[in-house]
Amino acid sequence: MEMKKNHTEEDVYILAIESSCDETAAAVVKNGREVLSNVISSQIALHTLYGGVVPEIASRKHIEKINQVIEAALLEAGMSLKDMDAIGVTYGPGLVGALLVGVAEAKALAYGAKKPLVGVHHIEGHISANFIEHPDLLPPFLCLIVSGGHTHLVIVKDYGEFEILGRTRDDAAGEAFDKVARAVGLGYPGGPKIDKAAKEGNPNAIKFPRAKVDGNIYDFSFSGLKSAVLNHINHANMMGEEIHVPDLTASFQNAVVDVLVSHTIEAAKEHGFQKIAIAGGVASNSALREEMKKACNKAGFTFYYPSPIYCTDNAAMIGAAAYYEYINGARAGLDLNAIPNLKLGER
Ligand code: KG4
Ligand code: ZN
Repeated sequence: MEMKKNHTEEDVYILAIESSCDETAAAVVKNGREVLSNVISSQIALHTLYGGVVPEIASRKHIEKINQVIEAALLEAGMSLKDMDAIGVTYGPGLVGALLVGVAEAKALAYGAKKPLVGVHHIEGHISANFIEHPDLLPPFLCLIVSGGHTHLVIVKDYGEFEILGRTRDDAAGEAFDKVARAVGLGYPGGPKIDKAAKEGNPNAIKFPRAKVDGNIYDFSFSGLKSAVLNHINHANMMGEEIHVPDLTASFQNAVVDVLVSHTIEAAKEHGFQKIAIAGGVASNSALREEMKKACNKAGFTFYYPSPIYCTDNAAMIGAAAYYEYINGARAGLDLNAIPNLKLGER
């Protein structure tokens, strides 16, 4: 019997492209879980000068780097464009000008090399980062996605099939880390700097509020916590007191982690999930990983988390997500556009 081209028993190679924020990234992924290359050109140093991502600078840098990054990804995988079965690309959500660079590039490659094109939701990519290092992880499971732009608690019902249980009402978790870091003069991006500073501090030194929201018990809110931290700093400044950065950052981080872990564990118990995964830039936070691990052990749940390199933006995770979309038959047309506010589960 002749095997069909996209038969699942045949190896599928995907060239994946990610450019939704400040990393220009390309990867070659085999069968959704094996990363043959993962090249990331970070613009962090550039944006640090401005204390955050400057959208126009991000787009300009993407257009400059994207071809080199793709070439490097193919070279590292020892493959060429003609060996690919499909091109996967993030088409939302994200900064529109940044997304357009990746989308236009992917369309040009797909057209030129006559390859199928698969549009990938950035958050679906973050979730799929967990498939790379955990061959045993299969849906359904519960996933907490915490990044610079998003905080979602999601049931992964199947590949590409999601139910959102909770989300942030205001700031994303990563955004809160970035704002607090700026307020204490740690600079951008704040998450890794707070993570490091907090290691020397006492997480119970300052009692910051654990936000409760009305309505959906699984929703999050971080703006009240952020304001409490800023008030604490202003008060100390007014009184001429010195701020103890390790204690302050450890106490802030503890408040964020506490809420993230408790919501996730409650949701898993309520909905009967034994498998818990985390994803997104903040998933590389050492306190979150530690506390979630403890809570999962206590509750008898299995905890999955990606290596830090697959937590922050990368194209390998986009390749993983693109693979499952591809084998489910998803194909984007050459009219694919960037959708800056694309909702999870929408096409
Ligand atoms: O997933 P990501 O690279 O980009 C988005 O899709 O937003 O996440 C970036 C966010 C930034 O807010 C950054 O401060 C945060 O992830 N982050 C961390 C850590 N590493 C990155 N937050 C807390 N602890 C970390 N170790
Ligand atoms: Zn991201």
